[in-house]
Amino acid sequence: MVTHVDFDVLRKCAVDAMTRAYAPYSGFPVGASAITSEGELISAANVENVSYGLGLCAEVALVSVGVSRGALVEPSRVSGRRLVAVAVVDGDGRVLTPCGRCRQVLLEFGGPELMIDTVDGPRPLGELLPDAFGPADLDRVRGA
Ligand code: THU
Repeated sequence: MVTHVDFDVLRKCAVDAMTRAYAPYSGFPVGASAITSEGELISAANVENVSYGLGLCAEVALVSVGVSRGALVEPSRVSGRRLVAVAVVDGDGRVLTPCGRCRQVLLEFGGPELMIDTVDGPRPLGELLPDAFGPADLDRVRGA
């Protein structure tokens, strides 16, 4: 279980991933990296598309990489493998705070305790996405 997070390392991994971004339409490459609860480092970049709306943010790609590799598994379980900390950078290597959609996508695999790198230092996702839509909202209509 990860107890200490080196955000400098996470940022470097995000910069490395950013160099492989496919962003010919916006010219805005993005890299994202994360450490999981089991100590795995994962990273990804944004992948755009000629049909602009189909472009994938780096954070969405990151979650897909993590799930596909088995690094992120059933985070709702106590023993689940989850995101512990995330760093995102732009084409100049500057810290980028995830967009709103990405915050919701990250929440699924990190929960409100997930630490997100920001210009003010690491902050819990629960602060960046307060009152988030979650499983409890679904349970309410399902009568669970
Ligand atoms: N982008 C990300 O990858 N993550 C964000 O959090 C914000 C925006 C990408 C989407 C698009 O490929 C480019 O940055 C410009 O918006």
